[in-house]
Amino acid sequence: MYRSHTCGDLTTAQISEEVTLSGWVQGIRDKGFMIYIDLRDRYGITQLYFDAENTPKNILEKAQSLGREFVIQVKGTVVERASKNPNIPTGAIEILVTALTVLNKALVPPFTIEDKTDGGEDIRMKYRYLDIRRNPVKNNLMFRHKVTMEVRKFLSDQGFIEVETPYLIKSTPEGARDFVVPSRMNEGQFYALPQSPQTFKQLLMVGGMDKYFQIVKCFRDEDLRADRQPEFTQIDCEMAFVEQEDILTVFENLTKHLLKEIKGISVDAFPRMTYDDAMRTYGNDKPDIRFGMAFGELNSLAQHKDFGIFNEAELVVGIAVPNGAAYTRKEIDALVDWVRRPQVGAKGMVYARYNEDGTFKSSVDKFYNQDDLANWAKATNAKPGDLICVLSGETNKTRTQLSALRMELATRLGLRDPEVFAPLWVVDFPLLELDEETGHYHAMHHPFTSPKPGQLELLDTDPGAVKANAYDLVLNGNEIGGGSIRIHDKEMQATMFKHLGFSPEEAKAQFGFLMDAFQYGAPPHGGLAFGLDRLVAILGGQETIRDFIAFPKNNSGRDVMIDAPAFIDDAQLKELHLKLALKA
Ligand code: AMO
Repeated sequence: MYRSHTCGDLTTAQISEEVTLSGWVQGIRDKGFMIYIDLRDRYGITQLYFDAENTPKNILEKAQSLGREFVIQVKGTVVERASKNPNIPTGAIEILVTALTVLNKALVPPFTIEDKTDGGEDIRMKYRYLDIRRNPVKNNLMFRHKVTMEVRKFLSDQGFIEVETPYLIKSTPEGARDFVVPSRMNEGQFYALPQSPQTFKQLLMVGGMDKYFQIVKCFRDEDLRADRQPEFTQIDCEMAFVEQEDILTVFENLTKHLLKEIKGISVDAFPRMTYDDAMRTYGNDKPDIRFGMAFGELNSLAQHKDFGIFNEAELVVGIAVPNGAAYTRKEIDALVDWVRRPQVGAKGMVYARYNEDGTFKSSVDKFYNQDDLANWAKATNAKPGDLICVLSGETNKTRTQLSALRMELATRLGLRDPEVFAPLWVVDFPLLELDEETGHYHAMHHPFTSPKPGQLELLDTDPGAVKANAYDLVLNGNEIGGGSIRIHDKEMQATMFKHLGFSPEEAKAQFGFLMDAFQYGAPPHGGLAFGLDRLVAILGGQETIRDFIAFPKNNSGRDVMIDAPAFIDDAQLKELHLKLALKA
């Protein structure tokens, strides 16, 4: 028996008991005649005690030879500590050790295994198994487990069935590139790893499963960011005989359940906002509504004076920065520089201080009088003491730039409290999105999304204006999930593919199986998928999903621990009928 208790179990209730513990040596304090060792496992830390008087000499010597992260087993008696540590559950006791076995030695770890470590991200990723021993990472993984269990429990209680779908499939278009796997048995052919189980879950609805879910890995070859990994996990769901309202209700309830169970927070009905309003009011389809700073459009107030830049702009739009009137000239210049960085891309920024005495002082006083500026204040909802920041230019770009400024300022002003949760449904997404580079439309969500009733005709005349039965769940400015009501009619699906630029042959070759299935009694259906990694990170008060994934990839898509991806040898290439061996 390796242990009778864990390192987090023992309290004064077990005083005088003989116990056996196993774990890692967290730290050693050797005072010559007495030695203290902190023994750690997943459950906690227990102090071990050895002294010249009570501990046999050979054990004392063995204790002296231990190093950090050695794996040991000890037997001993639980005794009350003279100086207690009120910060840990086992802080009132220690173990007077009577036997010590070294189960395994350890090299000196390349970074300290403590909450605040001296190891940088790269080294911790290379030795991720050591990083996982640290509380912050360990706690994140346990937190993820708790969220996952609650999701399974909730959905199962609602009648959802978890069904596994295959990983070796054909491309499912979700807007990224596919990871592909060569087939040894089918020369020259490749599987694609699923970007999502989209088509399979729809086929499960045709199969009559009615309510499906799956906590499932998805694979997307796209540029990585703090909230994106090449392989990530979805809580993927689909329901038959539902309308948008049914789906929003179920998944609003799931989210409320998680907030309650995990965070102890009750939230009211989630607000809803159309995509168009989100873009107009926040310049963003995933607005963070924990704070205000809503956009005020100033075209009618700021154009047709003598300020050419505004006159030429498609959009003139501003926000009020709370208490920003007190910013120094230097601070404001720094903000102007910030919006002009290439990552944001604004040409410049006009500003107006709304002084506490009700007067205005702006960077464009030459063109605008106090009444004009008072109107800007009204439009941006500015209060005395605020700073009005105004950008102008092409509508979409300007909105994106002002949204970036809004988020940056809110972060600086501490308005993005990670313990405040502000969920939001964004609805009525456009069906199609224009790819500026190619000039072609592609599906904004995916090609299986249905247009809103009565909008099909618009597809021919004004494709960009067609709205979809598509929705996103946004939490604190992050897209947590998205879904849609699907097309379940073969003809409509064929029409959709045609508008997306597929020839009938291409559509048949890629998605013939789905359109065939639609001919055998496909029920109306719809669903959504939550990004589990994002959901967990945000519930955990953070935004970097890597910290909630046991073995994540770095920003170049590499696993630096196992050193993947890697070249494969010629024999394997040959077996896979791959002639191209691009070795460095
Ligand atoms: P979508 O593409 O919106 O929808 O994905 C659903 C959710 O998955 C998360 N997500 C990611 N998380 C981490 N890394 C990534 N690279 C990544 N990409 C997406 C996001 C996103 O909201 N099949 C549809 C769902 C449906 O229509 O039912 C789909 O995959 O949180």
